[in-house]
Amino acid sequence: MHVDPSMDGVLIKGDKPIPGASTALQLLQDRQIPWILMTNGGGISEESRAERLTSQLQLPIDVEQIVQSHTPLRSLPGKEEQTVLVIGGVADLSRKVGQGYGFGKVLIPADYVKTNPSIWPFHSKECLEFGQVIDRLEDVKIDNILVFNDPRDLGTDVQVISDVLHKDPSTHVIFSNDDWLWANEYHLPRYGQGVTRFFIESLYKRNHGKELNRTVLGKPTKIAYDYAHSILINRSIQISGTGGPLRVAKLGESITQSPLKSVYMIGDNPASDIIGGFNYGFETGLVRTGVYRDGDVLPCKPTVIGDDVLSVVTQALKNMG
Ligand code: G3P
Ligand code: MG
Repeated sequence: MHVDPSMDGVLIKGDKPIPGASTALQLLQDRQIPWILMTNGGGISEESRAERLTSQLQLPIDVEQIVQSHTPLRSLPGKEEQTVLVIGGVADLSRKVGQGYGFGKVLIPADYVKTNPSIWPFHSKECLEFGQVIDRLEDVKIDNILVFNDPRDLGTDVQVISDVLHKDPSTHVIFSNDDWLWANEYHLPRYGQGVTRFFIESLYKRNHGKELNRTVLGKPTKIAYDYAHSILINRSIQISGTGGPLRVAKLGESITQSPLKSVYMIGDNPASDIIGGFNYGFETGLVRTGVYRDGDVLPCKPTVIGDDVLSVVTQALKNMG
């Protein structure tokens, strides 16, 4: 068995661990069962995410076990020559993620505000703190707009994206996830990054009378599962010590052959984790600690349902005999 759990609503809520989460991962560790963490979260580097989770869960988590919504963009062809506008996340951390992935030039909406504050007079003060003045910014061609995480200054982001799309309506937008809802410590699910896609696409249609040129990544897309599958195969090779070749899937590449016999995708969100895992051919485990509530209509039947990740892992181990 191999395990691929999501994070928010499964292991963590807000910044607190969900009871039993560390025990469940330790159980897998002790049995040498490969596991990775696949989240639709983003806006920080995989290294920072691994460090943060290690301290929250009090269990060592390797950077190679982290697949965030935008991680597959590491393998975007031609990225070194591209100028991208990155949206979302705190301060300028998303710019750093884009730079870390090797994009040629990475702009953030704050750069547009810093260069000309009247572009959106209601900007947050962080724009002036983290933006950079860019020479002849109006002439810079954006190859891709990359939405890495939920906007922290939606007004600025919407205005800057609209300006870029006004200049070149064919500009490609990549949304790193499409979550309508996600779970934090609030007692009801919260709106996710899918709502931002809804804003941008609706606005574009109204302004241009046609559909936006866009791609959606993250769970439940096959792109996300193929990428995570390749990372899980690598993990399995490392743990078993068989020394097979390690290879990360290219963006959009299908994994057609796998040494993994039974993979469980454990998640709290039926519309993301469970349907994505099910469509991909994985077993699925649904927890009651996040988005899903008893009585919600399910898009497919999960292999197991449990109160929390520990219960689901225990049931899955039992199924395996
Ligand atoms: O922003 C995070 C959220 O969309 C979901 O994350 O870990 O539940 O896939 P996760
Ligand atoms: Mg979740």
